[in-house]
Amino acid sequence: MTVVDTARRTNTPLGGPTLAQERKLVTSIPGPKSRRLSERKAQAVSAGVGISLPVYVVAAGGGVLVDVDGNSLIDLGSGIAVTGVGNSAPRVVAAVAAQLAQFTHTCFTVAPYDSYIAVAEALNRLTPGDHEKRSVLFNSGAEAVENAVKIARHFTGKQAVVAFDHAYHGRTNLTMGLTAKNQPYKNGFGPFAPEVYRAPMSYPLRDGGLDGVAAANRAISQIEKQIGASNLAAVIIEPIQGEGGFIVPAPGFLGTLLAWCRANQVVFIADEIQTGFARTGHMFACEHEGIVPDLICTAKGIAGGLPLSAVTGRADIMDSPQAGGLGGTYGGNPLACAAALATIDTYESDHLVERAAEIGTIMGERLGSLAAADPRIGEVRGRGAMMAIELVDPTTGEPDAALTGRVIAAAHAAGVILLGCGTYGNVIRFLPPLSIPDALLLEGLQVLAEALAADSAAV
Ligand SMILES: Cc1ncc(COP(=O)(O)O)c(C=O)c1O
Repeated sequence: MTVVDTARRTNTPLGGPTLAQERKLVTSIPGPKSRRLSERKAQAVSAGVGISLPVYVVAAGGGVLVDVDGNSLIDLGSGIAVTGVGNSAPRVVAAVAAQLAQFTHTCFTVAPYDSYIAVAEALNRLTPGDHEKRSVLFNSGAEAVENAVKIARHFTGKQAVVAFDHAYHGRTNLTMGLTAKNQPYKNGFGPFAPEVYRAPMSYPLRDGGLDGVAAANRAISQIEKQIGASNLAAVIIEPIQGEGGFIVPAPGFLGTLLAWCRANQVVFIADEIQTGFARTGHMFACEHEGIVPDLICTAKGIAGGLPLSAVTGRADIMDSPQAGGLGGTYGGNPLACAAALATIDTYESDHLVERAAEIGTIMGERLGSLAAADPRIGEVRGRGAMMAIELVDPTTGEPDAALTGRVIAAAHAAGVILLGCGTYGNVIRFLPPLSIPDALLLEGLQVLAEALAADSAAV
C-alpha cells in the first residue's frame, strides 16, 4: 500500500502535524480576535497589502488552517500553491530545525555551504530535459523571473522580451511590466521597464476556438512584425497561467512557440512558479506536452513555505553571466535550502505527483458534475491539483465577476478558503495542499456547491 493509500484510508493527513482534520466554526468568520487584528493591521501595515480572508492563523497542517478564534478552516489555497507538502510538514520542520541549530546565514557568495549545491543538483535532475543544466537560487518568484530575463539577455546579446496576455510574473518593476493585468498589480506604479512586449495567448474558452498551432502562429506573426526575432532575447510563459485565470493553452501552442524560439535563437523561459513541484500531476507542467524549456523559473512549492526560488536551465545559457552578476544576500539561504531538500524528498518519497493527479480526478469529477447542471459554470479547467471554474452569465457567456465574489465570500463564511483569479475576476481556483485528506477536499467542494446553489436561489 502506498503512503497515499494509507492516508486516504485512515483519514490521516499526509505528513502533516496532528491537527484535527475538520472544518469547525466556533465564531462567525472573521471572529472577534481576527477583527481586532484587522484593526491593528489597518493602523500598522500599508493599505497596499490586501487580504483575501482576514482570519489570522495560529496553526496549519494537512488540509486545515486554524485561526486565532479557534476556527478550523479547509484550505483549498495552499498559501497560493506554496504548501504542496502541507504546512509544517514533518521532514521540513526537522530539517529546518537542524539547520537552525547549525548556522542561519553566511551568504552563499561569501562563504558557501553544500545544501545550496544539493538543491541545484536536485533541480537540474528534476526539471524537464536530460541536457547539462545549472541552477541559481533566489528568494521570491519575481526575483527568479528578473534573473531569467537578465541571463537570457546576457546570453543572446539581445534585449526584447515577450510575455503574454493574462500573464502574471510578479510585482517588481520588470515583472510588473511582464504582468498583463493593470488593477491591482500595475495601476499607478509605472513607468515600467522598456523592451517588454505582449503577445496574444491561447485561451480556448475565449479565442473563438483557435487550435494551439493557429494561436501560436498568431502570436509569432505579431512578434515578427512588431519586434523581430533579431531583437528578441526571450519569450516567457506560464505553461498554465496562474493569476490570469488558470488558462490552459490549447495543445500545440507551447510546442509551436518553442520550435519557433529554437529556430530563431530566442530563449524560451517557462515560468513554473505556480505550476511547479507536483502541483499539476507532473513534477512540472511542461511535461504534460513534452516541452523542454531553455530556462525554467521555480519558487512557491519548492521549499514547503520557506522563501526560495530558482532559475534552472541549459548550462551554456546559465554560465553566460560574469561571476558576481548573479546572486544576492539571501538567495539560497541555508534554512530555505534545508527546507527545499526535505520538501523535494517528501514529494518523491510520498508519491505526491501521483497524489496531485488523484486530487485532480476527484476535483474534475465533482466540478464537472456541478458544471453539467449549472450553466453559470462556463468551463472547468486545469490539471491535477490546479483546477478552476470560470463563472459566466449563461445567456451571454460574459464573465460574471460579481457572482464569483459572492460565491467566494459565502465559502469563506462557511469555513473554506477559496481564491479568485482571472483577468476578468470571474475564476475560482482550487489549489489544495497535496496533504489534504479526501474527506476534507470533498467537504470543501460540497461547500462550494452549496454556495452556488444558495446564490441562484437568492437571485
Ligand atoms: C506564475 C508566477 N510567476 C511569478 C510569481 C511571483 O512570485 P512571488 O510572489 O514569489 O514574487 C507568481 C506568484 O504568484 C506566479 O504565480
